[in-house]
Amino acid sequence: MTKRLRKDWPGVFVLNPFTYPEPTGQDSLGLVEDGTADLIAFGALFLANPDLPHRLAEGGPFNTPDKATFYGGDHRGYTDYPTLEG
Ligand SMILES: Cc1cc2nc3c(=O)[nH]c(=O)nc-3n(C[C@H](O)[C@H](O)[C@H](O)COP(=O)(O)O)c2cc1C
Repeated sequence: MTKRLRKDWPGVFVLNPFTYPEPTGQDSLGLVEDGTADLIAFGALFLANPDLPHRLAEGGPFNTPDKATFYGGDHRGYTDYPTLEG
């Protein structure tokens, strides 16, 4: 289906690949390099890494998303993951 959408989509093709049970990660950037997509959308990894573009450029390391804080609660798990600069 991804290949068909890629072929038929007239504009910029943004892909959030199915990587369950792991969140979309650095490896998915290969899908841009091989032409499968124009851009990769990161969900949980971006939530856990507010400086994700910088970390991707550096090759990591990455904070691990804490599923216990998804979909509710308070600010914890949304605004308190550390950046590489601290
Ligand atoms: C905390 C959290 C909230 C999300 N909220 C929404 C939402 O409101 N609407 C939606 O379509 N997807 C939502 N998603 C799903 C993401 O958009 C994405 O499809 C999913 O996290 C898989 O991508 P990933 O492997 O990059 O995390 C949410 C995901 C997380 C972790």
